[in-house]
Amino acid sequence: MKISIIGTGNMARAIGTRAVAGGHSVQVLNRDPAKADALAKDLGADSTAGPLDDAPSGDLVVLALYYEPALEVIGQHGAGLDGKVVVDITNPVDTATFDGMLPAGDSSGAQEIQKRLPGSTVVKAFNTTLAGPLTAGEVDGQPLDVLVAADDADAKAAVTSFVESAGLRALDAGPLRRARELEALGFLQMAMQGALGNTWGTTFKVLGA
Ligand SMILES: NC(=O)c1ccc[n+]([C@@H]2O[C@H](COP(=O)([O-])OP(=O)(O)OC[C@H]3O[C@@H](n4cnc5c(N)ncnc54)[C@H](OP(=O)(O)O)[C@@H]3O)[C@@H](O)[C@H]2O)c1
Repeated sequence: MKISIIGTGNMARAIGTRAVAGGHSVQVLNRDPAKADALAKDLGADSTAGPLDDAPSGDLVVLALYYEPALEVIGQHGAGLDGKVVVDITNPVDTATFDGMLPAGDSSGAQEIQKRLPGSTVVKAFNTTLAGPLTAGEVDGQPLDVLVAADDADAKAAVTSFVESAGLRALDAGPLRRARELEALGFLQMAMQGALGNTWGTTFKVLGA
């Protein structure tokens, strides 16, 4: 599978690391092409790099960006993302207060992204896995659980297959509207870090399944 990753930060590196571990090809795109180049070199294998306006060539396109930049970037790519499975990993926390989420009403970041990308299929995944544990692929010797929400069965299956090939466990979290609950869970994990010792090395795990 080919995976396009937009962004070069913590999550881009983590997902890229898992992708290469799973034997996938990675394309890294960033507004600063030098950063894309550096991450692609670090990831190794046959990873490639390019500027933000290059066409994403992956079967999956991971938006490894904060929510508001993600909205900007999908606006720039527009129809260039048609037909793609777009993986939304954002936790759209209101950074003005760090006490709530940005999408209004009962919507979610993933649903807002899907509304703006009618020709693409959006899948919510990886927003509840912190970058450090995701890079390692495990916490305390246990593979991470990646909760996956989507309306389209084929797109969900593609992301599930990617997750499992990367040495992680995929769990079906239901339709895309469950992204609202997933984003709340991602926010909760961030909000609990102080109480948990600020290691940013934690994960949520479903037991008994
Ligand atoms: N970190 C975690 O543990 C974690 C866990 C779960 C989910 N998430 C979610 O994952 C997403 C990425 O988090 P992160 O920790 O990887 O962030 P990060 O390390 O700060 O990386 C953010 C990336 O976004 C790019 N960017 C910022 N503004 C942009 C713009 N206006 N246009 C284009 N690119 C822009 C940055 O590019 P430059 O390098 O050029 O500045 C950088 O590559 C967020 O939505 C976050 O909520 C994070």
